[in-house]
Amino acid sequence: RPFQVAIDGPAASGKSTTAKMVAQRLGFDYIDTGAFYRCVTLAALSKGINPSDPSNTGKIASIAGEAQISLETVFPERTTSSASASPPTTRVYLDSIDVSSEIRTAQVSKHVSATAAIGAVREAVLHKVRSIGANDDFAEGAATARDGLVMDGRDIGTVVLPNADLKIFLVANSQVRAERRLQELIKNGADPASGVLQVEDVRKDLEQRDELDRTRKVSPLKKAPDAVELDTSGLTIEGQVDIIVSTVKG
Ligand code: C5P
Repeated sequence: RPFQVAIDGPAASGKSTTAKMVAQRLGFDYIDTGAFYRCVTLAALSKGINPSDPSNTGKIASIAGEAQISLETVFPERTTSSASASPPTTRVYLDSIDVSSEIRTAQVSKHVSATAAIGAVREAVLHKVRSIGANDDFAEGAATARDGLVMDGRDIGTVVLPNADLKIFLVANSQVRAERRLQELIKNGADPASGVLQVEDVRKDLEQRDELDRTRKVSPLKKAPDAVELDTSGLTIEGQVDIIVSTVKG
């Protein structure tokens, strides 16, 4: 079967950028599982349904069942060195509409962990992720243009791809993560002068989301026993990509 790399870790630990660049360097596919929970959250909010209200669990579960979600990752020209490669980009479609930016808003981030704590939502997402080609069945016979797969999330090594060939658990201290996320928000058009965007607030949001992700009953965020922990607090993206790529290449 294609080689599977599972990347898990807390919010803003650099998972998706790292995973995409690892996929680019190795010629692998990339699947961002967080995007699925974000799409379900966006779909609920746009119908006026609050995912953080426990009385809405059933409604959110039906939304998860019905949502059509697809990902499209565009890999720039492949290079053998990390230095000159521009990062791949992933477009996310919800019911055929490009929601790549909408799923990254503070509003969606605030409610996404509540959505992801609902067992029926997790089942629906697992089904979708697997049907786009991420499980062992797919690996048996089916068509993949690439030699492997990199998937990132919170439960990839523990639940989604328990037999992955390489499991990485990315960590970084919360101050570093908050600073990185703040830079990302600014890059995506948030106004740092608005006063709303303080690194302290970003840090609190991340810590709150991690707490919900770690303590939920179903598939909580945790390191798989056979995962390699990589602390990226002092590493650059290129540095962490190099470590993972060379581990895959052995
Ligand atoms: O990775 P990202 O920050 O986009 O994930 C958003 C949220 O989706 C996480 O905080 C978590 O609640 C949920 N998630 C999850 N399991 C995954 C991926 C994401 O519960 N495999």
